Amino acid sequence: IIVVLDFGGQYNQLIARRIRDLGVYSELLPYNTPVEKIKALSPRGIVFSGGPSSVYAENAPHVDPAIYDLELPIFGICYGMQLMAQQLDGKVERASKREYGKAELEFAPNSTLVKGIEQKQTVWMSHGDHVVSLPSGFKLDAGTESAPIAAMSNEEKKLYAVQFHPEVRHSVHGNEMIKNFLYEVCGCEGNWSMETFIEDQLREIREVVGEQKVLCALSGGVDSSVVAMLIHRAIGDQLTCMFIDHGLLRKGEAESVMETFVGKFDMKVVKIDAQERFMSKLKGVDDPEKKRKIIGNEFIYVFDEESSKFDDFAFLAQGTLYTDIVESGTETAHTIKSHHNVGGLPEDMKFTLIEPLKALFKDEVRKVGEELGLPEAIVHRQPFPGPGLAIRVLGEVTEDKLQIVRDSDYILREEIAKAGLDREIWQYFTALPNMKSVGVMGDARTYSYTVGIRAVTSIDGMTADWARIPWDILEKISVRIVNEVENVNRIVYDVTSKPPATIEWE
Ligand code: XMP
Repeated sequence: IIVVLDFGGQYNQLIARRIRDLGVYSELLPYNTPVEKIKALSPRGIVFSGGPSSVYAENAPHVDPAIYDLELPIFGICYGMQLMAQQLDGKVERASKREYGKAELEFAPNSTLVKGIEQKQTVWMSHGDHVVSLPSGFKLDAGTESAPIAAMSNEEKKLYAVQFHPEVRHSVHGNEMIKNFLYEVCGCEGNWSMETFIEDQLREIREVVGEQKVLCALSGGVDSSVVAMLIHRAIGDQLTCMFIDHGLLRKGEAESVMETFVGKFDMKVVKIDAQERFMSKLKGVDDPEKKRKIIGNEFIYVFDEESSKFDDFAFLAQGTLYTDIVESGTETAHTIKSHHNVGGLPEDMKFTLIEPLKALFKDEVRKVGEELGLPEAIVHRQPFPGPGLAIRVLGEVTEDKLQIVRDSDYILREEIAKAGLDREIWQYFTALPNMKSVGVMGDARTYSYTVGIRAVTSIDGMTADWARIPWDILEKISVRIVNEVENVNRIVYDVTSKPPATIEWE
């Protein structure tokens, strides 16, 4: 393991990601993790991340200097370099102006970080302070005009530091520098992969669970599906999955979940048909936030009620991911979000939680899913909100309106898949605004609903751009929806990005 200490920089998760991509397991820990705890993990090396503070500022995050006594390789990046310089008797100053963007520099010959790559490099800078004098025992590896000491090292003590950000892609050979640190300096072998992850987890799950039973709330989404598969692989029928159908799922979804997990993988899945409960609670409610709350709460009640019928379960499995746990950028923040696949769970549970994916990023979870043989349609499923179609029927939710969204969404999904755009577009769905307009069909006037199409590209859902679907494909979708879905006479395409709009319409 390589420990990345988090000083609050915006790229810190990325550092951990890059290291894992190089086949070395890595975790991001708060900068003030006690040295004893770090030692107990037996890391091969440590990375000090970037961060927004100035090392001289009051309350600037510092590490316990005892960390240098561990005699482990350390790689300081940006703030991490400045901290290392300051703590080891070098000097840091405020630069006359902030440096942000690409910079050219040349490494000294024989610098381990650039072993096997060019000495001349383009790197990505983003800093206000810089190191102005080297700590004793260090040599200068590279400099630029605005950062005269842009890279430094103490090879004997295996301490390396750079002012730029090797983890971002704009640093052209950044990845290789990280690789050199891992392989050349720390002696890592790069044999961490999803296969080893699966093997380790299977062993651990068997050990922890023993002969006892596990309950898993299955939503059909990527995370809960992968958790269920993994645990099933480990302990077989000691696992029971609970799938709550709130009636707000897409067309064919509930059937496909049952077909996959029961039909194909022969797992025990208890399906709870709670459609009527949810619909009666939603009756007459048109405020989006109220709708969300009602659905979230109802989920908890249903889960609570149904799970209490089983009294022999010792564990509850959840698909919590690494990003749900780590909130980078804050002191020691380890806020656990209520898991949205199950809409938050009761607090006074009598189960012990097992969360086998809690060290993984989303794309790693997909890889695990692929390894475990989950169908492509689940592994690469587009995000789907916990409150389901209820937030795509604007205003009061009725069965008729749900039907329009289900049918139109199905056509959209079919056409997007036919056009081969399903991987490219991050999320695509239809929504039903609470409005009717006039149209003409045959020779008759119609007064029917408008369906909105939403399709966005995005990396993480935090920001998004509307997808440039070719017009002829939009046309096909529009014609099919108007012809095949009753009570619809107009289609509109949402051309707003997020922000200012959100992806969902409610
Ligand atoms: P917005 O609409 O806020 O959505 O731009 C961002 C992403 O989050 C999804 N979303 C949800 N996911 N529970 C979820 O699990 C929710 O309540 C929820 N609301 C929005 C949305 O589909 C998009 O991918």
